[in-house]
Amino acid sequence: MSAHAALPLAILISGRGSNMVAIAQACAQGRIDARVNHVICDQPDAAGIARARELGLATSVIPRAQFSDASAFEAALLGALDAQAHHLLVLAGFMRILSPQFVARYAGRMVNIHPSLLPLYRGLNTHRRVLAAGDAQHGASVHFVTADLDAGPVVLQSRVPVLPGDTEKSLAERVHDSEHIIYPKVIGWIAQQRLVFRDGRAWFDGEALDEPMVEEFRALAAV
Ligand code: GRF
Repeated sequence: MSAHAALPLAILISGRGSNMVAIAQACAQGRIDARVNHVICDQPDAAGIARARELGLATSVIPRAQFSDASAFEAALLGALDAQAHHLLVLAGFMRILSPQFVARYAGRMVNIHPSLLPLYRGLNTHRRVLAAGDAQHGASVHFVTADLDAGPVVLQSRVPVLPGDTEKSLAERVHDSEHIIYPKVIGWIAQQRLVFRDGRAWFDGEALDEPMVEEFRALAAV
């Protein structure tokens, strides 16, 4: 770890939280120069919030159901975030679409992971749609968040094979395993300032990324 302060993260979750755990472990083990300041969840019963507490992380639950509309919910979210200075907002299975105003507040400081090879399969049920289409490959994409859903510049993708006999569950697990590797890696690059968002684009080591970087996960095929 370098002498400067580790990059402070706020992680937003809605569900299982396995990406949050992978990121927290990468921080705790010193594999990336970041620290999880706060985990915020919009679902009181989400498994992920219990896991964050077990890990000793600071947590907040901001139940969407308690707010009359999305803007009241976002105001509460911003209040929780502004209470501490987070340099990177990490969406990890956060099932709310954030408004353009919210996204603007975190321009260039918000990342997301989406379970598809973007720009393919934006939105929900990606594993099911990949199987229905008969695709040979699938994966996940880590991208900077912009106002357009799942459309910000993609930095890194994991590519996994779709295998004969795959079910939605088996395919989702293979993609998930790869997510736990690529998401901490991208956050580590941001912490090192090797990766930045500028002029609407992602820049890596001083070069604009015209195409996402790709990691092949053939080794995970045999799970
Ligand atoms: C992942 O598949 C991620 O790509 C998507 O939501 C899921 C979150 O899983 N955005 P988990 O809560 O991190 O286990």
